Amino acid sequence: MTQHRIPLAGVIGNPIAHSRSPRLHKHWLKTYGILGDYVPLHVTDEDLPQVIATLPKMGFVGVNVTIPHKVAVLQYADQISDRATLIGAANTLIFRADGKVHADNTDGYGFLANLRQGAPDWDPSAGPAAVLGAGGAARAIIAALIEAGTKEILLSNRTRPKAETLKADFGSRVTVVDWVQAGNMIEASATVVNTTSLGMVGAAEFRVPLDGLRRGMVVTDLVYTPLRTRLLQAAEEAGCTTVDGLGMLLHQGVPGFERWFGQRPEVDEATRAAVLG
Ligand code: ATR
Repeated sequence: MTQHRIPLAGVIGNPIAHSRSPRLHKHWLKTYGILGDYVPLHVTDEDLPQVIATLPKMGFVGVNVTIPHKVAVLQYADQISDRATLIGAANTLIFRADGKVHADNTDGYGFLANLRQGAPDWDPSAGPAAVLGAGGAARAIIAALIEAGTKEILLSNRTRPKAETLKADFGSRVTVVDWVQAGNMIEASATVVNTTSLGMVGAAEFRVPLDGLRRGMVVTDLVYTPLRTRLLQAAEEAGCTTVDGLGMLLHQGVPGFERWFGQRPEVDEATRAAVLG
């Protein structure tokens, strides 16, 4: 008798208890009546290679990857998607039936899908996009903006050399702006994206001058705790179109879920409600 395995997925990281991904994927499993499960997995740096080698043998069809493993996992993948290569990090692993580990990065996809859902009139080529921050998330966002057709990306980071490194990687569409000029950079932009942790519960306050925000701009914040950050509040007051960061988390989960469980899930109000609890 053949034993049908229940497909399992999860998220590997350290720490992992705070992750909202289990709520997201469990909601979709339930919504589509799929027999499967999705679990948070606490994995140390030291154990990472062994975990990736072992999970497929235990019925796992794939995992999401979060801090601090997004870069390190690439070395344990047999196949890396173009976008994961460009970004230099993966957030989704697919354990294929032939035993190969495929690494992908869906952060940029999630970012664009969220903007398009939350601001349907957003035109990526309407003018420069201001990107605050030059960490891992910024890499995915810059790659996505370039792919979407944004011609000029103004990039500002507290630690300027990190922004210069991104410019070296992404080329002439990126212009580095000094952190003290970030307010002017916002004023000169059509799209504004905060990829820093500023404004997050427990992190430093977002203090970049915001008097340059104007009606017609599209403003999004990757921080989603709180949902309405100071940046988004100020943008709303200035008449901008605002898109909160929770949607990016929801949308980045779509490609993984589809590959693992064979169903493309919808991101709707019920999805948001399930993740917000
Ligand atoms: P992620 O993968 O989410 O991008 P990260 O790589 O740790 O996380 O990047 C965090 C970003 O927030 C960086 O751009 C960081 O700026 P530095 O490169 O100067 O560290 C930014 N950031 C964090 N705390 C900040 C603060 N107090 N002021 C300004 N920027 C800050």
